Amino acid sequence: MCGIVAYLGRKVAQPILVEGLKRLEYRGYDSAGVALLAGDAIRIKKTSGRISALEAILDEPDSAECLGVGHTRWATHGEPNTANAHPHLDYTGKVAVVHNGIIENYSTLRTWLQTEHVEFASETDTEVIAALIGYFYANGSGLEGSERSDGQNRFEWAVQRAIQELHGTFGLAILCSDFPDMLIGVKRGSPLILGVGDNEYILASDAAAIVEHTTQAIYLSDNEMVTVTSQGFHTKTIDNVTVSKDVKQIEFSLEQIELGGFPYHMLKEIFEQPKALSTCMGGRIDRQNNKIKLGGIASYLRELTRTRRLILTACGTAFHASLVGEFLFEQLARIPAETEYASEFRYRNPIIEDGTVVLSISQSGETLDTLAAVEEAKERGATVLGIVNVVGSSIARATDAGIYLHVGPEIGVASTKAFTAQVTVLTMLAIELGRRKHISSDQADGYISELSQIPDKISQILDQSDHIREIASANVDRDNWLFLGRGFNYPVALEGALKLKEISYIHAEGLPAAEMKHGPIALINDGMPAVFIATSGPQYDKIMGNIAEVKARGGRIIVVATQGDERIERCADHLITIPDAPELLQPMLTVVPLQLLAYHAAVLRGHDVDKPRNLAKSVTVE
Ligand code: M6R
Repeated sequence: MCGIVAYLGRKVAQPILVEGLKRLEYRGYDSAGVALLAGDAIRIKKTSGRISALEAILDEPDSAECLGVGHTRWATHGEPNTANAHPHLDYTGKVAVVHNGIIENYSTLRTWLQTEHVEFASETDTEVIAALIGYFYANGSGLEGSERSDGQNRFEWAVQRAIQELHGTFGLAILCSDFPDMLIGVKRGSPLILGVGDNEYILASDAAAIVEHTTQAIYLSDNEMVTVTSQGFHTKTIDNVTVSKDVKQIEFSLEQIELGGFPYHMLKEIFEQPKALSTCMGGRIDRQNNKIKLGGIASYLRELTRTRRLILTACGTAFHASLVGEFLFEQLARIPAETEYASEFRYRNPIIEDGTVVLSISQSGETLDTLAAVEEAKERGATVLGIVNVVGSSIARATDAGIYLHVGPEIGVASTKAFTAQVTVLTMLAIELGRRKHISSDQADGYISELSQIPDKISQILDQSDHIREIASANVDRDNWLFLGRGFNYPVALEGALKLKEISYIHAEGLPAAEMKHGPIALINDGMPAVFIATSGPQYDKIMGNIAEVKARGGRIIVVATQGDERIERCADHLITIPDAPELLQPMLTVVPLQLLAYHAAVLRGHDVDKPRNLAKSVTVE
């Protein structure tokens, strides 16, 4: 949460920072600001609201300002007003800081600094970082425990010294007015990438702010810092030990993060799914020989085949994908599997026996709860594998091995193509383990060939977007919805409800359909939309019964059914159809109409679909 971007080079910094912030706005959008440095004068502009509000108050760019830091905020400490917006200056006015993360001991540090007569202008934890750096910079190494190595730059030293005091997570970009040719970045727990261009450097929390300028980058690891000048950069640990870092290629293009004619990233990403899933499967499914190759975890396949228990851990949409995975592993490979909320897993003293493998699933690879669950599982001796989209992200690096989704950047806060790709990867893995353990080669071949047809089938569902918009329009005035499914489609019901909630702000509940009679059926009143996933499969007759029960009580029945199902046409108020597929492959199809339903409902309600209130794309706080 929060996006940071900083620039040092020969160009005018302000427009570069503003463009970078626009690319990062999906990470937080309640306030924004920039600090620019020319000579020894820091100029700060910041405001509550979105980047457009910042643009409205910015002066003409100053061509002398070729160094600057910028920030778009998702508030943690302190309400989203101008005073709390970043950048924050220290009390001496020399040090400006932008920060992504949370400082857990900021209150103690603030109290201590106040006893040293430091005054604060905001309620944020970040201002404490600026103040600490300013304090050490001003007081120098005369302080106890603060020796500076020979010749070390005083600003760099003060940053290192301040970092020693911080508990929590941070990605920081820092400048000091005494060093108009120096930018410092520091990382612990929050992502930080240095784009290395032609005589210019862009330091950012996300590659999206960098690709416009360069595709060469270094990815900082935790407790590392980078000092950048116009002469180059050097990386070291926060304890001042030099580390060498490889310059890597950023794996996505500018085109992938632009709207490309769509009104919202979410809609673009929904429509990208056929191509994204083909790419995700490409190179992994050998159609000619009907084989699955999962290179990233090849050396762990034996261990996975023998595992006694699989624990899948994730948050939000990735949690729902994990639930589908749980069904897949049990059904195809007969491996006991359970899904845990990452945020709960780490605090409940989990039992990790010999032979337990933990599978962690995350689009961003930065979700703090999921990362912490990975670390917890590793500490308890489990093999931990990842299914992650963002290459080089924290979870990708923290896991023993993993499989990338390869679906390109997901910008919309509501996750769509990542879900279908997560389920695709889980399906490939479950088929491969199934072939080794439980199902016949013929069965595995059959599933592989059905899986290969999923992208085309999604395209057919996308053709119904206008029809789905009409269904949304007929029901968008209702404030309470239910989403109901059984078996493999129960997690899809949860996902449908989450999608609707997060972007249209309509209250929705997802449930296993049979649970209705144990309480929630009391909610049904005249015209309440109940979305059933009632596709072909072993539980079809049961869910028909559940539909009848809701209809008898006045609920409005919206059904996702299999093409050609005439029986269901008679009881549905609104019908959406999907091409037929084996039950265990249906989640990749049945979720698509629910994504579109939520999208259209949000647009009809007049919401900014890509920037839902109170949310940000990756949740890097607990
Ligand atoms: O990046 P991650 O997959 O780890 O994110 C997990 C959740 O925060 C995320 O799926 C969230 O629930 C989405 N906004 C849902 O659309």
